[in-house]
Amino acid sequence: MSQVWTHIPILAPEIAALLLTNPVGVYVDGTLGLGGHTKFFLDRLAPQARIFGFDKDEEALAMAKERVADARLTAVHASYTQAGEILRQNGFDGADGALFDLGLSSYQLDNPARGFSLLRDGPLDMRFDLSASLTAESIVNEWGLADLERIITQYGEDRNAHAIAMGIMAARRQGPIKTTFALKNIVEQIVRGRGKIHPATQTFQALRIAVNDELGSVERVINSLQSIIKPGGRAAVLTFHSLEDRLVKLRFKEMAAGGAWKLVNKHVIAPSYQEVRANSRSRSAKLRVIERL
Ligand SMILES: C[S@@+](CC[C@H](N)C(=O)[O-])C[C@H]1O[C@@H](n2cnc3c(N)ncnc32)[C@H](O)[C@@H]1O
Repeated sequence: MSQVWTHIPILAPEIAALLLTNPVGVYVDGTLGLGGHTKFFLDRLAPQARIFGFDKDEEALAMAKERVADARLTAVHASYTQAGEILRQNGFDGADGALFDLGLSSYQLDNPARGFSLLRDGPLDMRFDLSASLTAESIVNEWGLADLERIITQYGEDRNAHAIAMGIMAARRQGPIKTTFALKNIVEQIVRGRGKIHPATQTFQALRIAVNDELGSVERVINSLQSIIKPGGRAAVLTFHSLEDRLVKLRFKEMAAGGAWKLVNKHVIAPSYQEVRANSRSRSAKLRVIERL
């Protein structure tokens, strides 16, 4: 039997309550994934509503289309940074709401072939978009010491970045580093684990962010929200680590100070104790919502 992949949508009722202000509206799900949020939203929207769902991952899109199975969904293989342009190509000048559920889905993390998890041996891939050329393997084997150290410092916030980058350079002189376990073993030999976090966790996070230009995409989409959201519409962003959350918090604050937007929630919204117990992957989630005036 083939594997059935799952991803539990996080804070779905809270997001639906804040985002779905128009039952017949047009919405953007910038990170369709397996379609969990979109399905939840469509169950609460009128037959005339539309959702444009974006994902860089064609495997996820195919699963989402099958699972959501609803003519109100238009699934698009593109980055959410293209949402404004694609809305206009489809005759809409903006959306009533947009969700960006950042990072990766449980499907991507749990599938060893995608190379995201240090708990599963697989190729060092980490691409959301399998048609993109940059992989974690190419970064680890081809980038110079300074760039490796920079991404592990900036995107992994790992104070052992220099030692890890040196370790990678030394290991690859023996032959190419091709698998998640090979990289994990290299880091384990350099850094001792701290508490519950595996010593390679931050290196893996850094590579994933670099491979997919994750922070650059978040920054670009926030800077272009004006072209995605109609006046009166809202954008919701779910973040999963402090780098993303800091970026969203700061930009939303600047937008609100500019007078054209207002913060819907002054304080960040986090999953309840019950949600974290039921779905441990929700534990670091933070939700911020902004409204265009
Ligand atoms: C956390 S998952 C979304 C899960 C989804 N909300 C659900 O309930 O099933 C994030 C998804 O966003 C996709 N993604 C990440 N960056 C993207 C980008 N710049 N443009 C489009 N999709 C992106 C990933 O491929 C992944 O499938």
